Amino acid sequence: MKIENLPEKYEKIWKKALPILKKGRPGDDVHAKETVKLVLSYQGNIKHDKDVIIPVAMMHDIGHALLLPEHFAYVTGPKKIVNAKLVHMLAGAKIAKDILDSVGYDKKKTKEVVDIITINDFDQLKDVEWKKVYDTPNKKFFHDMDALADIRKRE
Ligand SMILES: [Fe+2]
Repeated sequence: MKIENLPEKYEKIWKKALPILKKGRPGDDVHAKETVKLVLSYQGNIKHDKDVIIPVAMMHDIGHALLLPEHFAYVTGPKKIVNAKLVHMLAGAKIAKDILDSVGYDKKKTKEVVDIITINDFDQLKDVEWKKVYDTPNKKFFHDMDALADIRKRE
């Protein structure tokens, strides 16, 4: 699955992320691609760092590849859904870190990418003031791009 007009510097990341995304939930690969395309096509004035946002767009849901439906049998108790979401975000952060390290990505940007992936689904958690969690321009920008790409997915 190719992403049209993807700058060369992100190709290596996509090549490594795509096979893992395909092991996740159905449509995770298409959603990742859609989110990247939205970010690439953004023409407005809201400041954001594409070197952070593009890898996040590619890999924010990649943790689902490790968290398969059968794992839910082992997650019990009242916080089952919350725990599963936290696990997927942390698993995703670890996978993203490994991929970015393996392609020699900038350390500072890697740290920010990983940070955003660990909190990307906080808006779906009850009892979390998620608007306060998305406290940097990159976090806010990514959150809204992700939400927009999600609307497209469900059309
Ligand atoms: Fe998403």
